[in-house]
Amino acid sequence: MAQIIDGKALAAQVLARTAADVAEMVAAGAPAPGLAVILVGNDPASEVYVGRKIAQCRKAGISSIEHRLPADTPEGDVLALIDTLNADAGVHGILVQLPLPKHIDAALVLDRIDPGKDVDGFHPVNVGRLSTGTGGLVPCTPLGVMLLLDSVIEDYRGLNVVVIGKSNIVGKPVSMLLLEREATVTVTHIETRDLPDVARKADVIVAAAGAPHLVRGYWVKPGAVVIDVGISRVTDFDGKTRIVGDCATHELDHAKAVTPVPGGVGPMTIACLLSNTVLAAKRSAVA
Ligand code: GUN
Repeated sequence: MAQIIDGKALAAQVLARTAADVAEMVAAGAPAPGLAVILVGNDPASEVYVGRKIAQCRKAGISSIEHRLPADTPEGDVLALIDTLNADAGVHGILVQLPLPKHIDAALVLDRIDPGKDVDGFHPVNVGRLSTGTGGLVPCTPLGVMLLLDSVIEDYRGLNVVVIGKSNIVGKPVSMLLLEREATVTVTHIETRDLPDVARKADVIVAAAGAPHLVRGYWVKPGAVVIDVGISRVTDFDGKTRIVGDCATHELDHAKAVTPVPGGVGPMTIACLLSNTVLAAKRSAVA
């Protein structure tokens, strides 16, 4: 049987450490770290994610400021709100929940966030810092993926890692983090030829395609480690919906270790958002 990597337990450890960090900062006379969350419109999945982020902030002692804006909010109003939050010393982190409504240019909005407050790590300055290995804030899901991998892998040097999906949120940044550890990284995508053959050579697979059960048992080499970043809602034959990942986990008994969905990468993403917020607050205090 493959080891199931418990993302919930690992996330609880990260959250406990983050809460302890916050308590220490406040005891030393610093203000509690503040995270501003902007949600435009009422995408149901985004509402759930934002609700979870705010709830976890509260538990860790981070003050969260929620800005819920109607779906037809003009782009200029969102930019003006970001300007206000950039100038507010009580706000250490700013998160704009994606996706944004179609009339708003997401790149323009993300570019407006002060890179030092960009706890999602999506600003071009932070993307550049990640790709040059020069600090900055690192996107939360890739950070979480690395912590999950670190729980089962000590040394990445020379390992063959296949990343499935080239998104700006997961595929590209996680490949940069793995390159930094001197793994041999192959980033694959929808146009990749013979993907099962490519995947079968991997010591580590990071599946972030958003395609339910894409990665089958025969894609995975015995002893490989598989991180499943996918979260898809599927409807079963009986009409019930359930959440599944990108991997057919029930076919992966021959893997060394796998992450479950739910309970793998998801909890780690939120935990890393909180730790990024504390990091941004600490850096702003010394800036
Ligand atoms: N939508 C889906 N994933 C994310 C994320 O990591 N950050 C933000 N801001 N929006 C998202």
